Amino acid sequence: MSSHSHTQRRLTVPEFSGMKGQRKITMLTAYDYPTAELIDQSGVDGILVGDSLSMVVQGHDNTLPVTLDEMIYHAEMVGRAVRHALVVVDMPFPSYHMGPYKAIQNAGRILKQTRCQAVKLEGGVEQAEVIAALVGAGIPVMAHVGLRPQSVHQLGGYRVQRDEEPLIKDAEAAESAGAFSVVLECIPATLAQKITQRVKIPTIGIGAGVDCDGQILVIQDLLGLTAGRVPKHVRAYAQLRQTMESAVKAFSDDVRASNFPGPAETFE
Ligand code: KIV
Repeated sequence: MSSHSHTQRRLTVPEFSGMKGQRKITMLTAYDYPTAELIDQSGVDGILVGDSLSMVVQGHDNTLPVTLDEMIYHAEMVGRAVRHALVVVDMPFPSYHMGPYKAIQNAGRILKQTRCQAVKLEGGVEQAEVIAALVGAGIPVMAHVGLRPQSVHQLGGYRVQRDEEPLIKDAEAAESAGAFSVVLECIPATLAQKITQRVKIPTIGIGAGVDCDGQILVIQDLLGLTAGRVPKHVRAYAQLRQTMESAVKAFSDDVRASNFPGPAETFE
């Protein structure tokens, strides 16, 4: 199959936006080929190569360290794996903070190099000019308002954002600038519902209640792979951390007891 027909079968940006009011949208993050392939086969609508990569894969404390080159490296793997879902890539800090020219250059690299279809960036009102410039260049943009992890130092931590008017303005500004969808992170459910009713683009919630047009989770959180405390908004649908730990321990126990390899795993 040619790479062209590969891409053609994916959900498109207009199809994604058109799902608002029709049915709920499901999104998950992915950072590598095998995980993206599995998630895609399971039938989600969208896959995000999130800058959460910085924390859940690279082991940093926050999302600030991950670079554009590193995002592209992982987005290439995901882009190679996905046949059906819309693939969105996070623009890392500060790849869109130096004006529209730099933002187009950086987002352009993402689209040229990764076979992904859209970018996501954090901000509403203050990024409206950049969003409009990217959209003007034919680069679809998903906005991200509410808790914006790239601004963790300015926000003073990972807290629920409750300031209604600015958050409504952010979502509306993102829509007016041409964003095709907006992530709402860690805001009260009633506010997310209000925003979802006000804007015509789909809202994708994470810690924003059940009334958003869709939901997104970090795949490690959903699978129960995350060590330690997980945020309140997470639901773990499996406990893979325990499963992996006991598999690894069983292997070591078997090796130490000379129970691995056994006859079935040995060439005579
Ligand atoms: O980086 C990320 O994974 C995200 C989602 C959790 C929305 O921005």
